Amino acid sequence: MTSEARILIAPSVLAADFAGLGQQVRDVTEAGADLIHVDVMDGQFVPNISFGEVVVDAIRRSTDLPLNIHLMINNPDDLLPCFMKAKSDQILVHAESTRHLHRTVTRIKEAGHDVGVAINPGTPVSALEEVLPLLDIALVMTVNPGFGGQSFIPEALAKVKRLYETIRSNGYAAQVEVDGGVKADWTAQDSVKAGATILVAGTAIFNDAEPVIQSMARMHGCIHGLKPE
Ligand code: DX5
Ligand code: ZN
Repeated sequence: MTSEARILIAPSVLAADFAGLGQQVRDVTEAGADLIHVDVMDGQFVPNISFGEVVVDAIRRSTDLPLNIHLMINNPDDLLPCFMKAKSDQILVHAESTRHLHRTVTRIKEAGHDVGVAINPGTPVSALEEVLPLLDIALVMTVNPGFGGQSFIPEALAKVKRLYETIRSNGYAAQVEVDGGVKADWTAQDSVKAGATILVAGTAIFNDAEPVIQSMARMHGCIHGLKPE
């Protein structure tokens, strides 16, 4: 990966108005989103339930963009077939959620999807070490997962930087993604400078204060010209 990598914005529909979900997804697609981030929560791995296969399928029908499917579920292997449908969709599992991470990653790759592994704020970067060469995405959680609208944990930036440097120095292909509390301010800017090239943003994009076209423009504006340092 090069330092010229384009920064991708992935709005998280967890913060969208579910009464008009299809329209919200179309709006954010038109506003220049690169990916649609989809948070699947099981009430076990994280203390919240969001939605499952039926809603992901409805989101899939509302956009041509790749879905960045973030599985916050225990034992994701059992449910992978529900989410591995469109080949363009990226499947991300948590390192903490599966006993056999290498097997899970391999299954997703063999099914032809881009594969990502997420680590919680309390999980060290070293948890990714053995699978990192296989990954398309390494996701550093910048909040403890389960809810939108939480504050960015600044200590996670050092993990982003360390991961980025490991990937670069080894010539691996993985992009670094950040998720949680990312706004059109220092949180997005410092993430990009630390090496993140995929920024997830929920409440910063879907909120009552402004239409998504404006919040997307502010997000693009705030990171314009920045690159990993
Ligand atoms: C948190 C989810 C996030 C969440 C981000 O568990 O994984 O994707 O939707 O929301 P914000 O950007 O509002 O923190
Ligand atoms: Zn997420």
